[in-house]
Amino acid sequence: MPNVMTATYAEVDLDALAGFEGRVAILIAPDGKLDASARRVNRLTKGAVARVVDAGKLEEARAGTVITLGYPAGMAAEAVDILCLERRPTLLDARKAGAALGKVLKDGNALLAAGSNSKTAQIVFGAAMRAYEFTPHKSDANAKSRALKVMCAKPEEIEAEADTLLAIAEGAHMTRDLTNEPANVLTTTEFADRLKAMESLGLEVEVLEEDELEKLGMGTLLCVGQGSDSPSKVVVMQWKGGEPDAKPLALIGKGVVFDTGGISLKPAGGMEDMTMDMGGAGVVSGVMRSLALRGAKANVVGLVGLVENMPSSNATRPGDVVTSMKGDTVEVINTDAEGRLVLCDVMWYAQERFEPAGMIDLATLTGAIIIGLGHENAGVFSNDDALCRAFLNAAEQEGEGAWRMPLGKAYDSMLKSRIADMKNIGGRPAGSITAAQFLQRFVKDETPWIHLDIAGVASVKSETTLAPVGATGWGVMALNRLVQDMFEN
Ligand code: BES
Ligand code: MN
Ligand code: ZN
Repeated sequence: MPNVMTATYAEVDLDALAGFEGRVAILIAPDGKLDASARRVNRLTKGAVARVVDAGKLEEARAGTVITLGYPAGMAAEAVDILCLERRPTLLDARKAGAALGKVLKDGNALLAAGSNSKTAQIVFGAAMRAYEFTPHKSDANAKSRALKVMCAKPEEIEAEADTLLAIAEGAHMTRDLTNEPANVLTTTEFADRLKAMESLGLEVEVLEEDELEKLGMGTLLCVGQGSDSPSKVVVMQWKGGEPDAKPLALIGKGVVFDTGGISLKPAGGMEDMTMDMGGAGVVSGVMRSLALRGAKANVVGLVGLVENMPSSNATRPGDVVTSMKGDTVEVINTDAEGRLVLCDVMWYAQERFEPAGMIDLATLTGAIIIGLGHENAGVFSNDDALCRAFLNAAEQEGEGAWRMPLGKAYDSMLKSRIADMKNIGGRPAGSITAAQFLQRFVKDETPWIHLDIAGVASVKSETTLAPVGATGWGVMALNRLVQDMFEN
């Protein structure tokens, strides 16, 4: 179960500040003026807070800077955290300040004296996002309870606002848990079981097994998993929160629980990172969880293709020709270009079954997108300017990097095969674009579609504002907002 920090809310009680055991966080705006809570903490500590201000520490500070006073005399607290933040901050600044608090949250309790800050709920959200840790395989990790007590004006209103946000955090944490999980634990079966468990949240979850996938003709998806002992699966998650007859948004995720490359084996160095090759499926799962938890008034269907790409005597060989559910044949030149083979069958199935109002696929698809965009932006490919604009806007509002990339006929012709309808790779130039072109062959003209190549952003080697090293949960916030913007109004 994802570990989301718990929060409780109450009116500001200045007298509670002296005796609180744990961390006490206060907010100070760059102008250095202290609110009632900060004044009380200042008085209790015989002017320590004012000294920070007078020393000019706030002038160089930005949102997200935290100045910590350890074991302050005059208080029971283990520390006072001074968070620098405007009284009416931007959404992203408020989250950043909250994240600074989340990062230092230790076992036990913290008290946030937020007063009447206009973005208090966003501060709480930032703290919850950044307090995440992946500890199930640490034998010395005791069960941590990260409880945050929020003292603020209008606590009921703040609580209602924060509850919706914490649903999103819990979804993002599920994405991170799945993406961080090693492949011997997160097998295709374990993945499907974790999704099936979300039925308790009101999602309809179906698991399609190999015999059904064969009947459906998903030859490209199945050829990827055929070298593994773990059975290939497609999981369909439906959230029906909108009008009964409204066409759903379809989210499709690449769920390669481990990508060795198959017979086109990857080099040993860094191969362990390929436990995150189910990151797209992880995001889809986390978004579905968030939508269910917050009771979104929209119809959204999430589909994930779960396979393991292994070399064995049963594995697909370079040169093999396979047939997709659509009927198109594919010459598999390189078994390491497997993500597109998984996605194209799930995308076709999604369109045939649901006639979606829009379709967004997410995949850790190409190393080339990391060469192009690094770890700052996901690659965005689309056949529909309006949907694409809406997504880019949602991503920007949420502070999740996303950059549009081109599609075009000339790239498409790089997929020509001598003996089949197409090859599964286009060569080294424009590797991310030819991968997207491959996918577009499985998108119906009438389906507005976005492909998100998240190979660079799903899991990172240095911390980001809202996440520690490892899985980021990139995309959960943006997709949740897109659903809100486009399907709930
Ligand atoms: N899962 C990889 C892409 C990837 C690389 C994800 C690095 C995350 C980090 C994908 O299946 C793959 O192997 N792509 C190949 C395609 C090539 C064979 C055309 C690649 O990018 O090298
Ligand atoms: Mn691969
Ligand atoms: Zn892969």
